[in-house]
Amino acid sequence: MEERRGGQTVWEGIICIAIFIGLFFTRFWFLSMLYSVWWYLDRDTPRKGGRQIQFIKRWRVWKYLADYFPVSLIKTVDLDPTQNYIAGFHPHGVLAAGPFINFCTEATNFSSLFPGIRSHLMMLTLWFRIPIFRDYILTGGLVTSEKECVSYLLSKKEGGNLLVVIVGGAQEALDARPGNYTLLLRNRKGFVRLALLHGASLLPIFSFGENELFDQIDNPHGSWLRWCQEKLQKVMGISLPLFHGRGIFQYNFGLLPYRRQITSIVGKPIKVKQNINPSQEEVDRLHQQYMTELCNLFEAHKTKYNIPPEQHLEFR
Ligand SMILES: *[C@@H]1O[C@H](CO)[C@@H](O)[C@H](O)[C@H]1NC(C)=O
Ligand SMILES: *[C@@H]1O[C@H](CO)[C@@H](O)[C@H](O)[C@H]1NC(C)=O
Repeated sequence: MEERRGGQTVWEGIICIAIFIGLFFTRFWFLSMLYSVWWYLDRDTPRKGGRQIQFIKRWRVWKYLADYFPVSLIKTVDLDPTQNYIAGFHPHGVLAAGPFINFCTEATNFSSLFPGIRSHLMMLTLWFRIPIFRDYILTGGLVTSEKECVSYLLSKKEGGNLLVVIVGGAQEALDARPGNYTLLLRNRKGFVRLALLHGASLLPIFSFGENELFDQIDNPHGSWLRWCQEKLQKVMGISLPLFHGRGIFQYNFGLLPYRRQITSIVGKPIKVKQNINPSQEEVDRLHQQYMTELCNLFEAHKTKYNIPPEQHLEFR
């Protein structure tokens, strides 16, 4: 359903697979052997709530990463730690830097902003099948996008779980361009249905600046580039936006993101009454209410981020 970031993650994944297979051909083959045993014993963790490790989430390196843009996390209301939440995050951007830094690390103080809440970010299940890489992403609280995983988290009676879903997913990354406020949301209703099934509150999150980090090579609908990207996305689930930003020593061209402020604003939760067999009308109604809340959130904050008054969110 969702994924973190396209190109870079692919390389990290390939490197991990290469190390795992490569070691078999050296005198350190037993390391890969031991790892395989661990991998087998640990196979259910990605869909059983994952395995966050607080001290890794507090690493200084995340703080430096956050300061590069910089990234900040803002709340509009307190969240009740006895409840479970499913949050929609918009937009995906090229890197999904905001969701990763805000919800998978402590660089922006998530746990002091929302005491008693554990955050989880949903990522495409494919990534959890990659040796070593899976362990690395599990430490940040990333979990798979399987239904089973969602149920596991959201049906916890004691509450305190926040599951963040990047609703537009990999496909939305293909439209991530500075100044674009078109969100892929109109027909994405799965997360709303899950909120109903579990009686979890729905939480809109809009991230200002997320689309400003890179320029992207033109790929209008109907172009051959778009066609290839969409085919790849259908088959593999991942998308490869062809993006460019700045270089290390100059600002005109390179693969580093521009240093632009990312501010993720967590909106007001929409209370949802559990309904284990919701009709399409009920899902549609709640989805409409969610879109309205998201628009309200955008409108209420946009002037602070230099967005012209005539700019509104659009959905496709
Ligand atoms: C996080 O909290 C620390 C200490 O409470 C504070 O110095 C820092 O500015 C906060 N960081 C952010 C991004 O809010
Ligand atoms: C934003 O992206 C959508 C989807 O590709 C496109 O239809 C729209 O024209 C874009 N808007 C701007 C302002 O670039």
